[in-house]
Amino acid sequence: MKRGSLLVVFMACAALFAVPALGAQEKLEIFSWWAGDEGPALQALIDRYQQLYPSIQVQNSTVTGGSGVNARAVLKTRMLGGDPPDSFQVHAGQELIGTWVVAKRMEDLSSLFKSEGWMTKFPAGLLSLLSSKGGIWSVPVNIHRSNVMWYVPANLKAWGVTPPKTWDEFLATCKTLQDKGLAHPLVVGESWTYQHLWESVALGVLGPDNWTALWSGKLKFNDPKLVKVWETFGKVLAYANPDASGLSWQQATDRLVKGDAAFNIMGDWAAGYMATTLKLKPNEDFGWAASPGTGGSFMMLSDSFGLPLGVKHRDAAIKWLKLLGSQQGQDIFNPLKGSIAARLDSDLSKYNAYSKSAAADWKSNKIVGSLVHGAVAPESFNSQFGTVMDIFLSGNNAMAAANAAQAIADQVGIGN
Ligand code: GAL
Repeated sequence: MKRGSLLVVFMACAALFAVPALGAQEKLEIFSWWAGDEGPALQALIDRYQQLYPSIQVQNSTVTGGSGVNARAVLKTRMLGGDPPDSFQVHAGQELIGTWVVAKRMEDLSSLFKSEGWMTKFPAGLLSLLSSKGGIWSVPVNIHRSNVMWYVPANLKAWGVTPPKTWDEFLATCKTLQDKGLAHPLVVGESWTYQHLWESVALGVLGPDNWTALWSGKLKFNDPKLVKVWETFGKVLAYANPDASGLSWQQATDRLVKGDAAFNIMGDWAAGYMATTLKLKPNEDFGWAASPGTGGSFMMLSDSFGLPLGVKHRDAAIKWLKLLGSQQGQDIFNPLKGSIAARLDSDLSKYNAYSKSAAADWKSNKIVGSLVHGAVAPESFNSQFGTVMDIFLSGNNAMAAANAAQAIADQVGIGN
């Protein structure tokens, strides 16, 4: 056989093997911590994906645990073990950039942002949070707010109190409620929800400019202002339930709804849980306000999905990213999730009263980033912050906690 015909035979064989085996289905594996009660919004997005691409089989891999505490550990094992999911949930900002982008494990999605026309569809500030080293590293599906205080209007009325606007007012209101027989006016849940409460206390005590200065290294964690944050946090915690460590954030919300507590500080996924899962009506069955001292500030975080390098089903993953970055995808997901769309052109008529008020604040408030939910600090700081919290909880020593936080900031290079 001549060389030319040999080549033709070889190419024909190669083509034959490149064709997927008859009956083999295309797949997409997405990875997140939106399991169980947190699942409906993601499921609606997957349903839409399946309508658009019925031949692709979606594997919805979830690892339960609020704020991704468990999911991030599993993701780490998979990423380091060379078995990345096709696309995974990650907070926009330092959580992704400081971990998987610096480790060169992610695909740059700049060309996708350009071909989908997204460069003008997302706020410039969010695009810069997603960007580093000339690349854009994930597709944002939403904007959540961290600094929200939840309550049940009818309960506050019955107890004769109004939503406190500062932490001093909060402490006074809790004292009144205790005097009236409500043993634990504030409900808190498992470990990360303490940290979540802490960032609201910190924003309230420091104000937005000082909060932001912390992350550029201009304000130190052992500054007297931060010692005041820990002291205030200690006073606030004195009104919390003693069995917090056994409660998920949903169970903490349940306590509030049942009237076992008057207040809960939680991100607005709590609005999603109350409206979508518990079928409660915003403004009637549950009320909200900026957490004390934080009116006029919007502590943001954004859930996004990235594309690891070397995934098994890249085409299906790109289709997924296109859907979640689209106006339609965002307006399917967010009304159920309690978040607002990250896009600028979302159709607010699809959203409830809570989300409409969040959307108005997002436009008019001062925007700052969440620590606990990955916006402002790398994972290395965030994960060690739990130790700082333990130091504080074991001795109630504000100065010791402030010094420990600064030691970690130095170690991970915050502000360098
Ligand atoms: C956050 C996440 C939210 C919600 C919450 C509770 O970190 O951004 O979408 O899932 O955790 O698990």
